[in-house]
Formats: sequence, C-alpha cells, structure tokens
Amino acid sequence: MKKVDVVIGTFFGDEGKGKIIDFLASKADISIRCTGGNNAGHTVEAMGKKFAMHLIPSGLLNNAIGVIGNGVVIDPRVLLEEIKLLKDNGIDTNKLKISDHAHVILPYHIMMDKLLEEIRKSNKIGTTARGIGPCYCDKYERCGIRFVDFVGDNFKELLKINIEKKNAFFELYGKEKLNFEEVYNEYKEYARLLKPYMIDSVNYLHNEIENGKKVICEGAQATLLDIDFGTYPYVTSSNPTVSGFCAGSGLNVHQIGKVYGVLKAYSSRVGEGPYVTELLDETGDLIRELGHEYGTTTKRPRRCGWLDLVALKYAIRVNGITDLVINHVDTIGKLEKIKVCTGYKVNGKVSGDYTPNVEVLKKCEPVYEEFDGNFGDLSKVRKFEDLPVKAQKYINFISTYTGVRVSYIGVGPDRKQTIKL
Ligand code: GDP
Ligand code: IMO
Ligand code: MG
Repeated sequence: MKKVDVVIGTFFGDEGKGKIIDFLASKADISIRCTGGNNAGHTVEAMGKKFAMHLIPSGLLNNAIGVIGNGVVIDPRVLLEEIKLLKDNGIDTNKLKISDHAHVILPYHIMMDKLLEEIRKSNKIGTTARGIGPCYCDKYERCGIRFVDFVGDNFKELLKINIEKKNAFFELYGKEKLNFEEVYNEYKEYARLLKPYMIDSVNYLHNEIENGKKVICEGAQATLLDIDFGTYPYVTSSNPTVSGFCAGSGLNVHQIGKVYGVLKAYSSRVGEGPYVTELLDETGDLIRELGHEYGTTTKRPRRCGWLDLVALKYAIRVNGITDLVINHVDTIGKLEKIKVCTGYKVNGKVSGDYTPNVEVLKKCEPVYEEFDGNFGDLSKVRKFEDLPVKAQKYINFISTYTGVRVSYIGVGPDRKQTIKL
C-alpha cells in the first residue's frame, strides 16, 4: 500500500509549504489538510498565476482531489469565497471534499478571537483574528458545531444555545451581541451550498489508499506554533506537528511515509513571541524586502532573521523529518554574507538543544557560523550541480548539521523553480 507523505513547517509558518505541496501533487491522487483553518495562507505560483490558498488543499491546483480533514476548522464564508475564486480561474472545484467531522467557525468565534486579544492587553498573541482558537476551544468544550451538524437538522438548536452563551460573554465586556435569526439565515444558506461536498473522510481515505491511491498531507502552521511543542502561549490552537496528521485525518502512524520538513534559507515569524535569530536591524529589513515577507493571510510585515539550526533539529526530532525542503535559496543568495545559528548561549553555556520555554528563549544568545553569499541569479537553475559552489556549501552544511537529506531546493516562487535532488 502506498504511504502518505506529510509536509510540515519547521519554524513559525510561511516556509513555502504550499509551493512544495503543489509540486508533489503532480504525482499524487489526493491532497489533504488535517489541521488549522484559514489562519493558513499557502501561496502557489503556477500557470502564470498566483493563488493564496487558505482552506482548500493546495494540491487541488495540480489536479489532485482535495480533502479538508476532520482536524480542520472551517469558516464556511471563506471557503465559499475560495471555491468561487478557484472556479473563476478555471480550477475544477468538484474535486473538493469536506470531512463530516471538521468543526465550523461561526461569527462568534471571530468576535471572541478579537475580544480575547483585547483582554490580553500587553500579552497579546498576535492571532490572525480568524476565530481559530475559540473554535478549537468549543471543540474541546464539546459544544462545537461539526460539519455534519451544520448541514443537518440540529444546526438551528446548536447555534441558538451557542449564541446565547457567547452573547452573555459579549455583554459582560460591553460588546455588541449577535442576532440569532440573522446568523442562522445567513449560515443555513452556506450550509446548503456546501452540503454536496461532505463525505465520511476517514473511510474515504482508507478505502482510496487500499485501492492504491497516493495521498499527500499539507501541514499548515508549523512546529514552533504547535500548542504542545511551540513557544506557548505564542502558538496556534492545534497540533501542526506530525501528531496532528493522525488526529486530523483518521489515518494511522503506519501509513506515514516521508515527512518533509520545509524551511526557508533564513527564517520569519508573524505575531508575537520569542525568536532567537530575529534581526531587528537593516539586514532583517533587507531580507523582508528581498523575500517579499508580508503575510499571505493578514498582510502583516513578517519579522525576519537568520536560519536557526537549533530549532530545525528540534523540528526534526518532534516530527521525525526524513527529508528537508529548503526554499528561498535565491533570496538568501542576494546577501553578501549569510549567518546560520548552530547553538544557543545561555548563562555562559552553549547548547544545541531547543527549548520552547519562553522565559529561557528570552535569555538565549545565538551562536553563528558565517557563509559567503552573492550566489548570483538562480532563477533558472534546475540542478544541484548547477548551483554555485557557495550555495552548495551552504545547503550541504544544513544537511550535515542535521543529518537529514535535502530533497528539494526552492530558487523562486514558481512551481517550476524547484530543484529535486
Ligand atoms: P506557506 O504558508 O508555508 O505555504 O508559505 P507562504 O505562501 O505563506 O509564504 C512563502 C512565500 O515564499 C510565498 O510568497 C511563496 O510564493 C514564496 N516562495 C516559496 N518558495 C520560494 C523560493 O524558493 N524562492 C522565492 N523567492 N520565493 C519562494
Ligand atoms: P501558514 O500555514 C504564520 C500565527 C499567528 C499568531 C499565532 C496564533 O501559512 O504557515 P491563530 O490565528 O492561529 O490563533 O494565531 O500563530 N500563525 C501563523 N503564522 N503562518 C501561518 O500559517 C500561521 N497560522 C497562525 O500569526 O502568531
Ligand atoms: Mg503562509
């Protein structure tokens, strides 16, 4: 039976997962999303167009069936907009399938996300304000509305109970309350439009794999944003590490094939939280401009810094990464000198072990190795051997340090600008 290859973000998101999933999808039948929601923004540049995918698995752009797994939280309004956008661009959206057990984001989740950020005052997380955290909270509190409820007969009653409860909270904080009838009338129409996409995704995926189909999994967010393994509380509300794959799809550990860890040749972060290799100087600004580091979802400028191999090693341990994908080698190659972090200095001692402990991270000083940049124009390079020796040296160093092979290198945003090793 064919194994499922999983694509995972190794840092704080935006490593170029969408790009590599789209590339891998050319040899896959089914592409699945297992975690997160439309806090994700996965860019795919192909066929002369640029797509920003938030909920629909990016593999759909390269002819794979796209399954939104049970672990995903779905904003129906955003999903319908995304379906329309793809249809308008000639993409076959009949290939989309939605798990009956995925949870639904409703307007009170988004309002709650914003209100909770307000309440946090100086301890803001810097969420995407898409209602992700509050929706997962309801899932675990067991008052969430799953897709099967959303399109079924008990939606009205479940919605009423939830709105009453949330309105009491909004009132407490002097916020505007939701009108149940208005929300119900709007969302029952969304439910009607989306119902045809619903499937029993767990049995569907198992049956298709037993029938010889190749499945790939598109991770969203990333290791250091994981609720358990990330820099808590500056994290998202799901498990974007490989652990989220089984829980969010119903597939089992024996079915996992390759685990691709995606990274940029530098690093970035959106939102608050510790970031050891962050550059708060003109080099950081230069990387942001060269790499066009502005959020795909919220358009916020991304914090930028050097590549952190201590964090990468942690991501490899937590996820069982078998293959590395290094994007933006073209971007980093525009700098004259490149640094890469190989250790954290804390209280005079150098360690190669990452800790997500925020208080410790604040005290960590990065230890760097320096490399020559100025790689020249890489946009048309398609073979590793054709990369300048300086670029090969940088990539080989990452592989040697981590002990993990590099399988793909990105030399530009387009689908074609990918080197396979
Ligand atoms: P994701 O969330 O992990 O899918 O990543 P995003 O799409 O949010 O951010 C990655 C950005 O880098 C996008 O704008 C991509 O088009 C771009 N990108 C990906 N790989 C490369 C690469 O190798 N070189 C360059 N120059 N851009 C890339
Ligand atoms: P992709 O899949 C980058 C960050 C937010 C915030 C924190 C919590 O495109 O890599 P949330 O809205 O999830 O409660 O926000 O997580 N965040 C991301 N940062 N890329 C993402 O997704 C992200 N998804 C969430 O900025 O700091
Ligand atoms: Mg992104």
